[in-house]
Amino acid sequence: MGRAFVYVILGGGVAAGHAAHEFVKRGVSHGELCIISEEPVAPYERPALSKGYLLPEDPARLPAFHCCVGTNEERLTSKWYKEHGIELVLGTRVKSADVRRKTLLTATGETITYKFLIVATGARALKLEEFGVSGSDAESVCYLRDLADANRLVNVMQSSSGGNAVVIGGGYIGMECAASLVINNINVTMVFPEPHCMARLFTPKIASYYEEFYRSKGVQFVKGTVLASFDFDSNQKITAVNLRDGTKLSADMVIVGIGIRPNTSLFEGQLTLEKGGIKVNGRMQSSNSSVYAVGDVATFPVKTFGETRRLEHVDSARKAARHAVAAIMEPEKTTEFDYLPFFYSRVFTLSWQFYGDNTGDVVHFGDFLGNSFGAYWVNKGHVVGSFLEGGTKEEYKAIAKITRLKPAIEDLADLETQGLEFALAL
Ligand code: FDA
Ligand code: NAD
Repeated sequence: MGRAFVYVILGGGVAAGHAAHEFVKRGVSHGELCIISEEPVAPYERPALSKGYLLPEDPARLPAFHCCVGTNEERLTSKWYKEHGIELVLGTRVKSADVRRKTLLTATGETITYKFLIVATGARALKLEEFGVSGSDAESVCYLRDLADANRLVNVMQSSSGGNAVVIGGGYIGMECAASLVINNINVTMVFPEPHCMARLFTPKIASYYEEFYRSKGVQFVKGTVLASFDFDSNQKITAVNLRDGTKLSADMVIVGIGIRPNTSLFEGQLTLEKGGIKVNGRMQSSNSSVYAVGDVATFPVKTFGETRRLEHVDSARKAARHAVAAIMEPEKTTEFDYLPFFYSRVFTLSWQFYGDNTGDVVHFGDFLGNSFGAYWVNKGHVVGSFLEGGTKEEYKAIAKITRLKPAIEDLADLETQGLEFALAL
């Protein structure tokens, strides 16, 4: 059994949805494009799962957040794919790939052949077992990567109302889920090994603002330690978590957000990997010229840093996906991807944006006791990164622009005094 397509997108997440939209914009013909996804639904905007999806009232549900609503573009439902002659092969895992023969073998036994392949397999959540703790499959332990996880989390949350949750991990999932739990009337304790939350990005000063805000909402923090084991009752229901520092926290539910691993395994030994992802050039093309990779699974040259990076954020997945399609369909007109890294989050009434790189000296500015403050990162005498909480559209635009321009900074104290005005004046 087999089918052949000109273009195949492997994976049906954010990058796949935005790539499909770009293929149609650029005039793909009926029957040329196929998307194969393990998920049972058409591509959707994954960020909704830790935000609107978890709200107790009027929660976001599909079809409301199919791609590409995240960028205020058309909403691509299954009907849209059908109307444009795109084959959506859903609920189907690809179990092996042969880049030499240009074939993919699905778990249903079908061989799908391509001329051009875009790998958009994203990543999987790391499991506690990978850190030597067992119990991940217990009923009230939740991860959050896909729709099935989100549905499970909603059910567990509803049955734990008024109870206690332990959130393991102080990164994006931990912070966004903790806020959602509070909104759902659940008492939250966050546990993570670092001295402060969001350690990959935040400075201690920025982190302390968010931690104070969370504390004001009743969240407790246990830092500098990790989970050691669970206590169960006679029905195998978790009753408490034990931390390595000896603390015992009673728990009706547990959310685990301890990082991800890119889904590269189909291509190991076939494509060049770097920094945990599939290495691609500025056209998102891998070491095999017929195979492109985008999104969480791709390590690409970030021109502005002069080095390759693998980013785990939605803006990069969307833009890289569109760039790969441009490079495939109009190679002579497509230049190297020139991407400025952009991360953001929204929790409670707070909202921040970050652009660039968080390396070098940090200059904080603004009102850390109020609700608008930020920071610049200055490396080798130039602004390389900027962060802003509570900004307006124009202010966010200004910090993005300044980060791209990388102005020279002679006096850090002067930059601190000017603060946001420095970006707005440029
Ligand atoms: P994505 O994970 O979206 O899609 C991968 C797809 O490939 C899935 O459909 C998967 O099933 C499929 N697949 C994998 N292996 C397969 C196989 N062998 N066969 C078939 N299908 C296969 N970022 C941000 O900037 N701001 C935010 O607010 C958020 N919020 C957020 C919330 C939550 C809950 C998560 C989990 C993540 C975020 N992110 C985020 C990160 C962002 O969602 C992420 O960077 C993008 O989804 C990456 O898009 P991809 O298409 O690369 O992977
Ligand atoms: P993360 O990398 O943001 O954070 C992982 C956290 O795990 C670390 O901060 C650390 O506190 C913790 N940790 C590491 N080892 C641990 C251990 N042994 N025990 C306990 N804690 C440990 O990853 P995440 O929060 O799991 O997020 C998963 C993915 O989803 C990431 O790619 C992230 O970018 C993405 N995401 C992004 C957003 C956003 O951009 N707003 C929102 C949600 C999810």
